Amino acid sequence: MTLAQWTEVDDYFNGLLVGPDEALDAAVEVSNKAGLPAIQAAANQGKLLNLLARLQGARAVLEIGTLGGYSTIWLARALPEGGRVVTLEFDPECAEVARGNIERAGLADVVEIRVGRALETLPELAEEGYGPFDVVFIDADKPSNPDYLAWSLKLTRPGSLIVADNVVRDGEVVDADSTDPKVQGMRRFTELVAAEPMLSATALQIVGAKGYDGLLMALVTA
Ligand code: SAH
Ligand code: DHB
Ligand code: MG
Repeated sequence: MTLAQWTEVDDYFNGLLVGPDEALDAAVEVSNKAGLPAIQAAANQGKLLNLLARLQGARAVLEIGTLGGYSTIWLARALPEGGRVVTLEFDPECAEVARGNIERAGLADVVEIRVGRALETLPELAEEGYGPFDVVFIDADKPSNPDYLAWSLKLTRPGSLIVADNVVRDGEVVDADSTDPKVQGMRRFTELVAAEPMLSATALQIVGAKGYDGLLMALVTA
């Protein structure tokens, strides 16, 4: 199977089930023009995040890794009146692009962007009394995933859902000897999820227009 085939199938399903969307399409275009890397979630993955948040009945969502706000918009649209997404971004330029994209989507009042290293902004959130979040989407620097898991557990409740992007990385995740800190971060993260009695989890490989990667989903149990 080739990337061209995966892309054609993504296009087929997205054409029927996801569809064009003015604000989301503009977010991608503006992000590309601003020179941001095109590593935002695929449309069908964004829709999956949206469906998961709706299944959760989420009112409070935490996102680690905003980029241009593409996944943020999908998540924010899942929330009822009064719902809130807090999204954490290290790069002020990304945060600025995201701010524009989120505003264009009419979601400026729903989304709070915190600029800074997530390992600095997460303790601030905890100190300020944020949480429990109903959904956490972990999608930032992969070597920090083990720490993001610990913070996610602090900032959620039984019944919350933790989702992590990029757990497969072209299949490299199975290479125990990998010298790539991203791969080692994902392996350690997955082992910690497995060892945590409060979590019930699964991981799925995903192919599509964005290549070969995957998602891990963990339900916080009582
Ligand atoms: N969730 C986005 C994609 C995020 S890409 C989407 O699907 O649309 C990863 C983002 O994490 C990048 O914007 C990067 O700047 C940010 N990032 C990297 N290290 C970070 C850190 N230590 N703290 C917060 N954000 C970080
Ligand atoms: C990278 C990061 C992502 O969040 C992603 O979805 C794809 C690639 C990266 O750092 O290369
Ligand atoms: Mg990602």
